[in-house]
Amino acid sequence: MTRKNRPISETEVKDYPTMIFPEDLNSQDKMFGGMLVATMDKLAGTLLFRHAEGQSFGTVYIDGISFLVPVYRGDLLLLDAAINRVWNTSCEIGIRAKVQRKRTGKIHHLSSTYFTFVAVEELAETDPESGHQKIVAAPIKYGATPRTKEQKRRWQEAEERRQERLKKKG
Ligand SMILES: CC(C)(COP(=O)(O)OP(=O)(O)OC[C@H]1O[C@@H](n2cnc3c(N)ncnc32)[C@H](O)[C@@H]1OP(=O)(O)O)[C@@H](O)C(=O)NCCC(=O)NCCS
Repeated sequence: MTRKNRPISETEVKDYPTMIFPEDLNSQDKMFGGMLVATMDKLAGTLLFRHAEGQSFGTVYIDGISFLVPVYRGDLLLLDAAINRVWNTSCEIGIRAKVQRKRTGKIHHLSSTYFTFVAVEELAETDPESGHQKIVAAPIKYGATPRTKEQKRRWQEAEERRQERLKKKG
């Protein structure tokens, strides 16, 4: 059965803001790296919730993440995110993070990366290894249609990145 597609633009997000609070800082009073990863991961999951109407997903792979500038208390993280491509049970979300300075208002590029998510479902049977219900990959409810030139480029390049990830998995 062929599944329906949804336009990528329906879920694309631009400048999603998060203010950096004291609990987001490391011992040198700068944002700790895990804060950025968690914020990106949650936003990617939110996009997928909207795209696939509440279907459950798990993160299976995060490409390299760089931290190009320090982030301080009161600065704003601004995230751009979009579904780049949907395969059968997996998909790629691209995220670009910027930081807007509290003191100067200037905006800097902070990091760009890709998250691979897999749609999952729980089976009735127990997984003997974990003692929890067994989790398996499930087809994603909707494909994603690229319409703009940029979306088409990302869609094309996503397949090359996927092949590299799968090669590493072995
Ligand atoms: C999601 C999970 C059930 C998939 O199990 P699996 O045995 O890897 O399943 P498969 O081999 O069938 O792969 C499922 C899909 O993921 C893709 N995939 C798996 N590993 C991948 C990787 N390293 N990079 C990119 N894609 C990957 C496969 O290509 C396949 O996609 P497709 O159906 O679109 O072609 C399992 O990996 C899992 O439970 N992981 C934990 C997820 C989680 O809890 N994440 C939260 C952070 S801990």
